[in-house]
Amino acid sequence: MSNLYIKHATIVTPIGVEAVKGEGMKRLNIIEDGAILIKDGVIRYVGNSNPLRQIYTLFGNGSTFKEIDVNGKVVLPGFVDSHTHMVFGGFRPDEFRMRLEGASYMSIMEKGGGIQSTVNATRKASIAELVRNAEWLLDRMIAMGVTTVEAKSGYGLDFNTEAKMLAAIGRLAAQKKIDVIPTFLGAHAVPEEYKGRTSEYVDLIIDEMLPKFRKAARFCDIFTEKNVFEIEDSRRLMKAATSLGYKLKFHADEIVPLGGAELAAELGAVSADHLLHISDEGVRRLADAGTVATLLPLTAFALKENYAPARKMIDGGCAVALATDLNPGSCFSGSIPLTIALACIYMNMTIEETITALTLNGAAACGVADRKGSLQPGKDGDVVILDFDNINMLPYYVGMNCVKTTIAKGKIVYNS
Ligand code: NIG
Ligand code: FE
Repeated sequence: MSNLYIKHATIVTPIGVEAVKGEGMKRLNIIEDGAILIKDGVIRYVGNSNPLRQIYTLFGNGSTFKEIDVNGKVVLPGFVDSHTHMVFGGFRPDEFRMRLEGASYMSIMEKGGGIQSTVNATRKASIAELVRNAEWLLDRMIAMGVTTVEAKSGYGLDFNTEAKMLAAIGRLAAQKKIDVIPTFLGAHAVPEEYKGRTSEYVDLIIDEMLPKFRKAARFCDIFTEKNVFEIEDSRRLMKAATSLGYKLKFHADEIVPLGGAELAAELGAVSADHLLHISDEGVRRLADAGTVATLLPLTAFALKENYAPARKMIDGGCAVALATDLNPGSCFSGSIPLTIALACIYMNMTIEETITALTLNGAAACGVADRKGSLQPGKDGDVVILDFDNINMLPYYVGMNCVKTTIAKGKIVYNS
């Protein structure tokens, strides 16, 4: 049943239907002794815990509602993980070990490991295997309160395997457990067979892949990085994507400062992600363009890099989102709790800002802020109930799950 009445809640939510920039990120709406009514999967009422009968008369029209008394516990919008590579074949623990022993992420990639090694495994995997592995990860995300997840292709790097990955993402979406937003990332790396011929691979993406994958993917993403896709190739590819109707995302300024953020702003991208090495000019351009700056602290942590300058971005008027970057290489973790802790402890974000970043701004980074990311009438009934009555528990219980119940479109999809 997707009719729910949640009562006696401490409701904490951003408000709005688009990304919240700068200062506004720390302003949350708080309702003590609040209630939320979800009918047919959609939120119809958010307010005080009025007597149930009154609510039924207003909204019920004879329908029945499952009632949940949360006894003062915190209720948040469902988390949006707006940057993941959750569909892939194989794991790379040996590479992680090499990094522990001093090798860098890019040196492993340049020797044919890294993304290419997942490409080799993904090319061999069946759709059923890809879906099964991703389901395993998805269930863990749901248990941490995720109700919308973005999923990228990008471990095929040839037509058939990119198509297979997008089909696997499509199957996950069709299960309708939670919303899955598909992104085409054919420009994740230059595949082995095109080594030294980057522009020819870009031509292949533009001519063969982009036109065919338009229906399967909402976004087009690219790894804009030194010795991967540099600025001119990135501009050419992403302009072609725009002309076909894709919305844009960028992996930008992750390893070295290359001007990826500036390019994302120039092309009106929905989000620019990573940004560990963003320039001051890049911060200004993202703020002016309204491009969401999606920060991925788990990746910086796992790569032992400095964190993205979140404070500079928020204080400079950017809309910041947080996501996990879950992938088999640079960051094999989908931990929402650790993301929150790292953002608060090392990036100096306030707890309120991390909530906005993981809800409304994540939804905006997925292009779904009109339906997701805040608790307000008309939006999907995507709700997280914490085990605690205080949001300060989120970073304080370091890396541990504070979620008691996850609700997606009015259905309980996880309950501890
Ligand atoms: O976002 N930097 C590029 N892509 C991924 C890592 C992919 C991988 O190592 O498999 C990232 O960190
Ligand atoms: Fe990524």
